[in-house]
Amino acid sequence: MQEQRKYIHGQWSSRWAFILVSTGAAVGLGNIWKFSYEMGERGGAVFVMVYLLCVAFIGVPLLMSEILMGRHGRRNLLSTMRNLAEESGLSRHWDLFGWSMIVGSLLILSFYSVIAGWSMAYIFRVGSGIFSGQDAEFSEQVFANLVSSPEIMLAWHTIFMCISMVVVSLGVRSGLEKTVVILTPMLLILLLIMVGYAISTEGFSEAVTYMFKPDWSVLAEPGAFSEVVMPAVGHAFFTLSLGMGSIMIYGSYLSEKISIAKTSMVIAGLDTAVALLAGLAIYPLVFTYGLDPASGPGLLFITLPVAFGQIPLGELLGTLFFILVMIAAWSSGISLLEPTVNLLIERFNHTRLKATLFTGSLVWMLGIFTVLSFNHWKFEFNFLGQHRDTGIFDILDVLITNIMLPLHALIIAVFVGWMMKRTLCKEELHLREGFLFKMWHVTIRYVTPVGIVLFFLSAFFG
Ligand code: TRP
Repeated sequence: MQEQRKYIHGQWSSRWAFILVSTGAAVGLGNIWKFSYEMGERGGAVFVMVYLLCVAFIGVPLLMSEILMGRHGRRNLLSTMRNLAEESGLSRHWDLFGWSMIVGSLLILSFYSVIAGWSMAYIFRVGSGIFSGQDAEFSEQVFANLVSSPEIMLAWHTIFMCISMVVVSLGVRSGLEKTVVILTPMLLILLLIMVGYAISTEGFSEAVTYMFKPDWSVLAEPGAFSEVVMPAVGHAFFTLSLGMGSIMIYGSYLSEKISIAKTSMVIAGLDTAVALLAGLAIYPLVFTYGLDPASGPGLLFITLPVAFGQIPLGELLGTLFFILVMIAAWSSGISLLEPTVNLLIERFNHTRLKATLFTGSLVWMLGIFTVLSFNHWKFEFNFLGQHRDTGIFDILDVLITNIMLPLHALIIAVFVGWMMKRTLCKEELHLREGFLFKMWHVTIRYVTPVGIVLFFLSAFFG
């Protein structure tokens, strides 16, 4: 019998609670806002296929690894990294990786919160009926008005940070679990209603073709690697919430009895299903109303309201839709706050309230950079052949999606595959020396690291 480990911090009440909170963390703006506009800008079905392959072959094994590390360490990110490293006979300085995850999660939340703020602003814009019968030009104007007004964006960013802080300050079970266990199913239901509507539109079959029938010749075009493959790989990490400690800390609250392998597949499956469903809810409207799939980060906010302005019950559907986006963002925002809050509580003995207030205020301040990226501080730059035009917001996106996420994924794969003891991994995963375990181990040891190294090599040396 394995000795019952002592719980030094909170614990989820059940396997389903863990699945729902982790799915809540995974499903977010990434699935609805980022996935839909990236797909539109980056070759449709080809982007989707590369992303699906990455989720299956790199994402799931990594998800298992991150949960495994979290549950085995059962501590804040720094102590977890230090303990795991010491146990494997490595330097204590592995806690630097813990710091890197903390920094990454706060940077992500800083822009995430601003975009979540847009979706909250749109609940009221769409709900008030101003889009009724309007065209794309009007919609562009509404969006431009929003992003050119730092005050309004700042106000919504503030509100989003506050609601996330309230949940986190209430703690693991009474805050995070209680809230997200309601939010995630609600989101799924709202999404199904939206898809149900989309099926009845003319653009549905065109959307299905667009999303699922890849035109592989796209990959032969010059720049396809940096324009299509790189973002798709980064997106797979982003959408599963990998590499920044969200999943590691949630794993640390998971009971030993639960199977990590099965749970990870359920989470990745639900996350992918939501992304595809979101695509199926959005793209039929884009095609039915002749809107442009490649309109960038504004896609959700510029094109969709036009469609909502045309259709029967559009105000209601539109309001529901942006509520859904907000809910999705909310349960993810929480997961980005928790690693730092937990660290401050365990390492620096702060109360949960104080830790949350401190972390939230820090992220709020960082968010000001994103707020200003769309107006006063807007500038353009090129990164490895990608043209970017929204200043610091885009620098953050490049830094996170193209550099930090793949790098952290590589570190996790090498750590779990090469540094941690094989038997320990097997025990923690509750797997026998069978096919499943061997597959996982070979993937995490060879496939993932080699894949990511090739990814970096081709990115930086063409
Ligand atoms: N996965 C979330 C989304 O798709 C965002 C997110 C939450 C995240 N926690 C994360 C992304 C940790 C990267 C790392 O919206």
